Amino acid sequence: MKTYKIALLPGDGIGRDVTAAAWAVLEKAARLNEFSLDATSYPWSCDFYLENGSMMPADGIETLRSFDAILLGAVGWPHKVPDSVSLHGLLLPIRKAFVQYANIRPHRLLPGVQGPLRSDGFDILCIRENTEGEYSGAGGRVHQGTDSEVAVETSIFTRKGVERILRFGFEQARARSGKLASVTKSNAQKYSMVFWDEITQRLSVEYPEVDVTSYHIDAMAARMVMAPDSLDVVVASNLFGDILTDLGAAIQGGLGFAASANINPDRSAPSMFEPVHGSAPDIAHLGIANPIAAIWSGAMMLEHLGETAAAAKVMASIEATTARGIGAIPGKDKTDAITASVLSALD
Ligand code: IPM
Ligand code: MN
Repeated sequence: MKTYKIALLPGDGIGRDVTAAAWAVLEKAARLNEFSLDATSYPWSCDFYLENGSMMPADGIETLRSFDAILLGAVGWPHKVPDSVSLHGLLLPIRKAFVQYANIRPHRLLPGVQGPLRSDGFDILCIRENTEGEYSGAGGRVHQGTDSEVAVETSIFTRKGVERILRFGFEQARARSGKLASVTKSNAQKYSMVFWDEITQRLSVEYPEVDVTSYHIDAMAARMVMAPDSLDVVVASNLFGDILTDLGAAIQGGLGFAASANINPDRSAPSMFEPVHGSAPDIAHLGIANPIAAIWSGAMMLEHLGETAAAAKVMASIEATTARGIGAIPGKDKTDAITASVLSALD
């Protein structure tokens, strides 16, 4: 029987609640589809930081490297550890070290879920650059604490980085409706974003079957609200993709429905699957977090591992659950009730 080695990083807050839920579903899906998932769970988190002075051990990345995939809950607990420390100590280094340059985030309404918009026919796949751009971490502060203090944070756009994410976007668009939206702000940011637009244009020649349009981020934000059904694949830089995918989560009914996959398309290192939402300390361990985003992220993991039948079964079970109204209304059902419904729909 085929066995996949999965590293579980439940992390902080509701990350732990939803990872447990997702894992129960994934294990059952594996059993029914005759493969097995072999989990090793690591307690790397803000609590781990308070005990050990780092978010993960010095060899954490090397430990994770041998896995087939990573399932992550959420990272951060601002009252214990500043977010700038916890995120730069665990989530962001993993995305970079494992070259998970494509962050894929689907935005569509599950059956029975009521979004805030009048339009309900949209199906958007956001692809966010995940390793460089505005989140490169290049910068510094001088004259700290004085009147002359200066803070510099440099966005880094490399030809390699921009080209590979755009190519990924073109390929996703080709596999879907053939429509690609590339997001920049090249009217105001005249170096990096003009560079991005130029590469988009150059690559479009290689993908004649893809209809690509460039949008400015501000216009795209409006379009996602006013005409989301005019969009299909949307590709954006790290910061723009980050912001647009919270908007995407909002129009799909809330963060509890927003799944994501941090993909290393070359498969030279493990990919990582995580809900878009954070650790939500205010509702942690109350048993009320919506596990659907985490379970959906798990389905994306099965898909990436090549277990497409099991992935489809998990998605169908999520949809059967929300279609019955379970987990469809934020705050109404408990984590366990939603999970139990998805589990029974698997049969
Ligand atoms: C996300 C999150 C993270 C990000 C934060 C927590 C660093 O907002 O996955 O969207 O921006 O990458
Ligand atoms: Mn975000």
